[in-house]
Amino acid sequence: MAKAINPFIVTGKIESDYFCDRVSESARLIKSLVNGNNMVVISPRRMGKTGLIQFCYEKPEIKDSYDTFFIDILHTSSLKEFTYILGKEIFESLVPRSKTMSNLFLQTLKSISGKFGFDPFTNLPTFNVELGDIQRPEYTLEEIFTYLAAADKPCIVAIDEFQQIAKYPEKNVEALLRTHIQKIRNSHFIFAGSERHLMQEMFTSSARPFYQSADILELNAIDDPIYVKFIMELFESRGRTISKEVVERVYHLFKGHTYFIQKTFNEAFSDTLPGEECTLETLNQSIDNLIAGNATIFREILSNIPEKQKELLYAIARDGEAERITSSEFLKKHSLSSASSIQSAIKKLLEKDLVTELNKKYSVTDKLFAMWINTIYGKKFNL
Ligand SMILES: Nc1ncnc2c1ncn2[C@@H]1O[C@H](COP(=O)(O)OP(=O)(O)OP(=O)(O)O)[C@@H](O)[C@H]1O
Ligand SMILES: [Mg+2]
Repeated sequence: MAKAINPFIVTGKIESDYFCDRVSESARLIKSLVNGNNMVVISPRRMGKTGLIQFCYEKPEIKDSYDTFFIDILHTSSLKEFTYILGKEIFESLVPRSKTMSNLFLQTLKSISGKFGFDPFTNLPTFNVELGDIQRPEYTLEEIFTYLAAADKPCIVAIDEFQQIAKYPEKNVEALLRTHIQKIRNSHFIFAGSERHLMQEMFTSSARPFYQSADILELNAIDDPIYVKFIMELFESRGRTISKEVVERVYHLFKGHTYFIQKTFNEAFSDTLPGEECTLETLNQSIDNLIAGNATIFREILSNIPEKQKELLYAIARDGEAERITSSEFLKKHSLSSASSIQSAIKKLLEKDLVTELNKKYSVTDKLFAMWINTIYGKKFNL
């Protein structure tokens, strides 16, 4: 018998059978794009932005009528790198799709056309361009937009971690991109990002170039009953059992955070044989493993945080959700020194995205990191 695949997907593309919900979000995103609008998708890290966008790209309304592109610019730090990644993605998506269009792309990108290579085995052109070859990114970017405008199909370009462009050293990138995007008729854009404050600021502050240029979709956790049902069905349809109560506990522990839930059940599923029940012990073990598997990264992160910030981070991790963090009560409870040092520490922690603020409540952004911090203090989690 072939080995059954684990239905809790944690890497790569997710087939629709393994994709949970997002019915209303995908409908809204598709409707907005089809109507010619651009869309902002904001969510905490690993809540499912990429998954949602790729899910929409596979829907016939999009797949049959548009050329779709997707770039993640988290690691980029200049307009040059942005241009490079965008050019590479468009080119590499076009080559297998259409010879005419990839040739048009090559001809349009005059500023770097001499740098494209050729693969003698496949007979196809290759993107041999190096970062240093892009000497005048504004020109190359303009050429890319010229291509998009001339493409035979309308295009959708998703730019993940879009807030990154605000951190580039060049001052005019937002305005430059906005001008190109505003002018183009047959391409629509999805701007996704996880740094909520930066993203909101970019699209809702009247002083910024992207002000009111796109609809905003906030991607939250999948609803409790829907996610719980989905998980139970995946176990049951594969001859395993799991009780609703334990699934709910995991859901609440991670507040429905997609990545952690997928990871936990991926591991728990592989530890449950056909005919068996996935129990609380199985799940506790899976979560322990998940925490342990990330310990090296967590230690590394901690080693780069100054002491005052670390003290505050620990205090927030202990409270889970911390309120009124400059009050004397909070200071006393966690033996912190002064309200003023908390103020400067929280500013830094928020900037580094280690802590998230929502409705005046602070929590450690990465839930697993918070759990790990608590384990080093002997406060072990238990479902
Ligand atoms: N609707 C869904 N059903 C099942 N699994 C999902 C769903 N959405 C996302 N996932 C899974 O959850 C994890 C996180 O999703 P994804 O990578 O889409 O998040 P993201 O918000 O783009 O993350 P990042 O902040 O790292 O860019 C992935 O392992 C993905 O496979
Ligand atoms: Mg992503």
